[in-house]
Amino acid sequence: EKEEFELLIQECKELLLSLPKEKGWRTPFLYQFEGFWCQPKEIQSIISFQKHFKSKESDVILATIPKSGTTWLKALVFAIINRKRYSNTQNHPLLTSNPHDLVPFLEYKLYSNNQVPDLSNVFPDDHDQPRTFATHVPYPSLEESIKNSENVKIVYLCRNPFDTFISSWHFINKLRPESLPDKFSLEDAFKMYCNGVVGFGPFWEHVLGYWNESLKKPETVLFLKYEDMKEDIVSNLRELASFLGFPFSVEEERENVIEEIAKLCSFEKLKELEVNKSGKAMTFSKQFENKHLFRKGIVGDWVNYLNPSMVNQLSQLMEEKFEGSGLSF
Ligand code: A3P
Repeated sequence: EKEEFELLIQECKELLLSLPKEKGWRTPFLYQFEGFWCQPKEIQSIISFQKHFKSKESDVILATIPKSGTTWLKALVFAIINRKRYSNTQNHPLLTSNPHDLVPFLEYKLYSNNQVPDLSNVFPDDHDQPRTFATHVPYPSLEESIKNSENVKIVYLCRNPFDTFISSWHFINKLRPESLPDKFSLEDAFKMYCNGVVGFGPFWEHVLGYWNESLKKPETVLFLKYEDMKEDIVSNLRELASFLGFPFSVEEERENVIEEIAKLCSFEKLKELEVNKSGKAMTFSKQFENKHLFRKGIVGDWVNYLNPSMVNQLSQLMEEKFEGSGLSF
């Protein structure tokens, strides 16, 4: 942590000293920045993103809170937008690249380590293709030109808090550095989660930020649910493609293009690809094993972990937080 702190720019170090902090999940501390909880390196990237990013009207932003199915959403959107370029055959980039390498994160990749990327190099052929980015940043903290645009499209994927919590807990225990006290108990994690202290949380604020925006601006903010997609991927893909401005034609429908995209991006398919079994990626300056992104990929695995009192507590909390919003879990 000390070493990582030293690598931050002075402005960020000073800012951190003024922010509330709590024990973290995979770093010693999380800091409350603009109302949400983040690791120091993330805060530095977000500041750089907020300062330097300028949206184009054709941009697409995929937004999630971690462990809601970001990898899946990236794969699906990439496959939809690029389906004319790559027919669903052997040379599809999704067969050899992890979805995170095809749709870059604003904060983990493009603006990480205080860099300001030249986006025309990242998206050299953006004349006929929208630039597609991903982010975990909550709606109010997105860069201004994104929020002010009447055309930039935002897709938010939401997953129920029970599974999101369990998925986060497993993920963190795999990535937790050895320098931190051994195992991160489910009980400790649960307490922190219920207090809102989780990366980019509180969960409810993250979700409500995008949910309310999707009600206000349905043409530019699409709100999807992981569970709905699992239940009926075809209708959801149809809606997603239309929203993005790449609707499926009658002919494509007839040729089962939607089903093929769903299959290509399915958990079962992606998990078994060599790139996702043994491939590695860089986030910030650390290596990350792609296999950690694919665990079970199901709805309801939380029943195997949460005791009745935890279920009660989290249900009540969610009821309270989402009351009157039109959203429930
Ligand atoms: P579980 O830990 O419950 O299995 P993220 O991509 O936001 O990090 O979310 C990770 C979660 O999505 C993990 O959930 C992971 O297994 C699941 N996942 C990954 N790829 C998926 C896919 N193609 N379809 C459905 N779920 C997927």
